[in-house]
Amino acid sequence: MSVKIAVNAASGRMGQQVLRQISRNPKAELSAAFCRPKHRLLGRPVANFNVIYSANRQLGLADSDVVIDFSLPDASKALIADAVATQTPALIGTTGFQEQHLEAMRQASKKIPVLLAPNTSIGVNLTLTLLAQAAKAIGAKADIEIIEAHHKHKVDAPSGTALRMGSEICKALGTELDKQAVYQRVGRAEPRQQGEIGFSVIRAGEIIGEHEVIFALDNEVISIKHKAQNRDCFAEGAVTAAIWLASQKPGLYSMQDFIAAQ
Ligand SMILES: NC(=O)c1ccc[n+]([C@@H]2O[C@H](COP(=O)([O-])OP(=O)(O)OC[C@H]3O[C@@H](n4cnc5c(N)ncnc54)[C@H](OP(=O)(O)O)[C@@H]3O)[C@@H](O)[C@H]2O)c1
Repeated sequence: MSVKIAVNAASGRMGQQVLRQISRNPKAELSAAFCRPKHRLLGRPVANFNVIYSANRQLGLADSDVVIDFSLPDASKALIADAVATQTPALIGTTGFQEQHLEAMRQASKKIPVLLAPNTSIGVNLTLTLLAQAAKAIGAKADIEIIEAHHKHKVDAPSGTALRMGSEICKALGTELDKQAVYQRVGRAEPRQQGEIGFSVIRAGEIIGEHEVIFALDNEVISIKHKAQNRDCFAEGAVTAAIWLASQKPGLYSMQDFIAAQ
C-alpha cells in the first residue's frame, strides 16, 4: 500500500520537485498540496494528480500519513503545530532555523515523528559519515575549512548543510562547533589559530548546492566534496525518507537515522 504524502509550500521550488518525485515513486501517493491562502495556485489542480492546491492544512494533514515541508522557518513552525494537532509525522527540509524554531521541533517530536533534515540528499549524508571518519583520523592535526556555494536567492548563510558538516566534524573531535567556528576573518590581524573551522560562503547565479571540506596537513591536503547536479537529489531523498518516517514512533530523527535503518 502506498504512503499518503502531503506537501507544504507546494508552490516553492523544492515543493514542486517533491511533487514530481512523488509522481515517480510507486510507494508514494499525493494526499494534499498546500499553498498560501492568496496564492495564484489555490484551487488549481496539481499536475499529474487528482489533488487541488489547498490552504486548509489541518484538513489535508488529517488525511495524510506524513507531510514534507521545504518553506521558511516561521512557516515550518506553523506547520509543525498543525502536524501535532493532526498527529501527522513531519519531514522538515527547511533551513535557517533559530533556537525558537528548533525548540518547537523538539517539543513536537515528543508527540509525533519529526525528521529534521537541513540536507535531504543521500550523497550529502554519506559525505557527513566520511567527514566524521576523516576528522577522527586527522582532524586534530589538520586545518579544517568548509566552503559552500549556493544560488543568489538563498537567504541564510552559511548553509544548514555547511553548519551540519562542521557539527559532525566537531562531534568526532569531541568539541563543539560554537567554540571552533570562524565565520569571517576581515579585520582580524592574527594568523589562523589551531582548531579553528573556517567557513567561506559563495552566493551566485543558480548554483544548486556545493560543499567542500578541506583538511590541510603540512604536506598534503585532503578535500571531500559534494556537488548537487539538480534539485532531484534533495526531493528524492525527502520522499524516500518520508515514506520511512510515516511508520516511526514519535521522536526527533535525522537523515542519518533513516540511512542507518536501511
Ligand atoms: N533540506 C534540503 O535538502 C534542502 C534543499 C533545498 C532547499 N532547502 C531549503 O528549503 C527551503 C525552501 O527552499 P526553496 O528553494 O523551495 O524556496 P522557495 O522556492 O522560495 O519556496 C519557499 C516556499 O515557502 C513558502 N512560504 C514562504 N513563507 C511562507 C509562509 N509564511 N507560510 C507558508 N508558506 C510560506 C513559499 O510560498 P509562496 O510561493 O506563496 O511564496 C514557497 O512555497 C529553504 O529553507 C531552503 O534552504 C533545503
